[in-house]
Amino acid sequence: MNRLKTLTTLLLCTIALQVFSQKKKSDIDIDKLIKQMSIEEKAGQMTQIDLGIVCVGDICVLKNPQTLDINKLTTAIAKYHIGSILNVGCGSGTISLPNWQKIIETLDQTNKKLSAHQVPILYGIDAIHGANYTMGATLFPQEIGQAATWNTSLVKRANEITAYETRASGIPWNFSPVLDLGRQPLWSRFFETYGEDVYLAKSMTKAAINGMQGNDVGSPYKVAACMKHFLGYSVPLSGKDRTPVWISDRELREYFLPTFQTAINEGARTVMINSGELNGSPVHANYDILTKLLRDELGFKGVAVTDWEDIYKLVNTHHVAATKKEAVRMAIMAGIDMSMTPNDYEFTELLVQLVKEGTIPESRLDLSVKRILQLKKDLGLFDQMKYPSTLYPQFGSKENAEVSYQLASESITLLKNKNNTLPLQNEKVLVCGPGANSINYLNGAWTHTWQGVDARYNTPNKLTIIQALEKYKKDNIVYAEGSTIDSLTNIEECMAKAKSVDKIIICLTELPSAEIPGNIDDLSLPLAQENLVKQLQTLNKPIILVMCFNRPRIIKNIIDKSDAIVYAYLPSDEGGRAITDILYGNTNPSGKLPFTYPANVNDFDHYDRKAADEQSNVGTANGYNPAFEFGQGLSYTTFEYSNFTISNSKLNDFDSVFVKVTVKNTGTRTGKEVVQLYYKDLVASITPSSKKLTGFQKINLAAGQSQEVTFVVLKSDLSFINKELNRVTEKGEFELFIQNNKQLIYVN
Ligand code: BGC
Repeated sequence: MNRLKTLTTLLLCTIALQVFSQKKKSDIDIDKLIKQMSIEEKAGQMTQIDLGIVCVGDICVLKNPQTLDINKLTTAIAKYHIGSILNVGCGSGTISLPNWQKIIETLDQTNKKLSAHQVPILYGIDAIHGANYTMGATLFPQEIGQAATWNTSLVKRANEITAYETRASGIPWNFSPVLDLGRQPLWSRFFETYGEDVYLAKSMTKAAINGMQGNDVGSPYKVAACMKHFLGYSVPLSGKDRTPVWISDRELREYFLPTFQTAINEGARTVMINSGELNGSPVHANYDILTKLLRDELGFKGVAVTDWEDIYKLVNTHHVAATKKEAVRMAIMAGIDMSMTPNDYEFTELLVQLVKEGTIPESRLDLSVKRILQLKKDLGLFDQMKYPSTLYPQFGSKENAEVSYQLASESITLLKNKNNTLPLQNEKVLVCGPGANSINYLNGAWTHTWQGVDARYNTPNKLTIIQALEKYKKDNIVYAEGSTIDSLTNIEECMAKAKSVDKIIICLTELPSAEIPGNIDDLSLPLAQENLVKQLQTLNKPIILVMCFNRPRIIKNIIDKSDAIVYAYLPSDEGGRAITDILYGNTNPSGKLPFTYPANVNDFDHYDRKAADEQSNVGTANGYNPAFEFGQGLSYTTFEYSNFTISNSKLNDFDSVFVKVTVKNTGTRTGKEVVQLYYKDLVASITPSSKKLTGFQKINLAAGQSQEVTFVVLKSDLSFINKELNRVTEKGEFELFIQNNKQLIYVN
């Protein structure tokens, strides 16, 4: 029976795929089409509206389920010729697969009826950690956790599944990945980044873009990626979202540009612009960044979309334009192709006026419309807008959930494990803390809703930490909440139960949030949770902290008396299971921090610090003294490094150095290790970093097994941006090192 079912599914899938590919024959002539389009139609193509404004009900009022309002849709298409729609409706939540199909089909049919040239509507969505706006889709750990796996194959696979499940929803464009570097831990979107390091983030970027787009973005299983947010969004001086950022041109190129350059090299089709201001200039109006840098220098050929309402924000927030009309002129002339308007049509009307009165040349519109139509063509939208369920038998499948579980398992980072407190065996354990019994706190923002706090849409049967623990070892587990995120609750009950157990697991967390709602004033752990830990620590029993956070919250007051610390980032729907398996040793932890974990609220250190960062006037202490280092993460086994060799100690332009090291699993269980190669430029014209990552490999070793790992280092791998803003590798000595093994090389 099962075989029959599989065969039938396979057959249906093949037939559907054939229908899809037979129809994929569009040889539409874009230049010809543009010549036939009116100014109004071109301005419409450059407009992106929110789904909410074409749905029944008021703008930004929860719609559930979302239903298209044909009158509003008629206005959008017949009057404004809109080219793109996004999201689920401001204020609303996730949509079922059948409802997505209905929405996309209705849009298409209405568009075919009403639009003169029948240019398909391009739908875009924030599928940030899986197709998070489609009910029952597979959700993955947030980007920061993905980076902590240091496993690019898994990250690529997660992006393939995200693309598959997003297309299954009828949506061919994903506003992901976030390529901003996570170098400001206060920032509310820290969890959306691949962490603080350029090399690691570039590796993840490559995996994400390839996974999402593949070789043929027009495939019914692929989507166009959107690298965001260009450029310099992630390090606001105040730590608060969309507040001013100051980055020198040199640092911009050293730290913040490379991920975008990587994505462009990998063929990323679209880019979203940084909503904020950089060095006093809002990026949406910055010709130097949007045209000279992005297009002329980096060679980006795709579509540049604004962030939410950002053209209007040139007037309302940034005060660089006196009127919306002036703002539209500034943004379009700076290089914007599409405006995420998204709640009215003023942009569209103003753009038409500006062209008609000669302020913006029509040829400028042609340039953007050409990019937009090319994207639609390459996505296959002129041929096919139907995505039958039969094409997607793996949507939300067990197999896909397993990939999410693997990612979560490989991300979870064991930061401390005094006296082998973990793994647990048959001890009696108290589980408490606000993170213990919530799926939302495992997932974070961008989960079924923008802020991710609405539990109504959660996928059924996913296990919270306590549910997963009880499923695994019911008889050994007792539970008491002890504290919500910010106030102690049943603390007496919690203390009483703690007295009868051998070990205590405290699940710490913060409220899911993103963007401005996620702003905080400092990185301290919410006081109630600190107090919960402190009270339980008075019992002198082994304390295990399990931490799911948007960003590293300071634990200096509780760290010493905690015996084990399991940092889980935002591990998502399979996080409860993955954490349980780590706690009980069914999985050997292998995650490594993709950022420097600060010890104090004022420490904004990075691992690639300068020597001057290490100075201190407090005794002889090192000024750089984080709670946990970038790249750190313990295992239940031990690894020994030996035979560190380099092939040659001189490096010329056309040479390479082979760096070898043997890694041995010297413990008693199988384990994964991330072998990390760093270098240090001993003397340079720009103060060199004490340490820079230039290679890593994740390997799996059985107990007693050894493996030789080889890295190839080229001269260009040791480069930096000099004062003249050129990428150079200067002559001189460099140290190459893996753990404590070091060798000097001389670069000519
Ligand atoms: C965010 C973007 C997101 C967009 C669309 C904005 O507020 O900054 O990252 O893609 O909304 O939802």
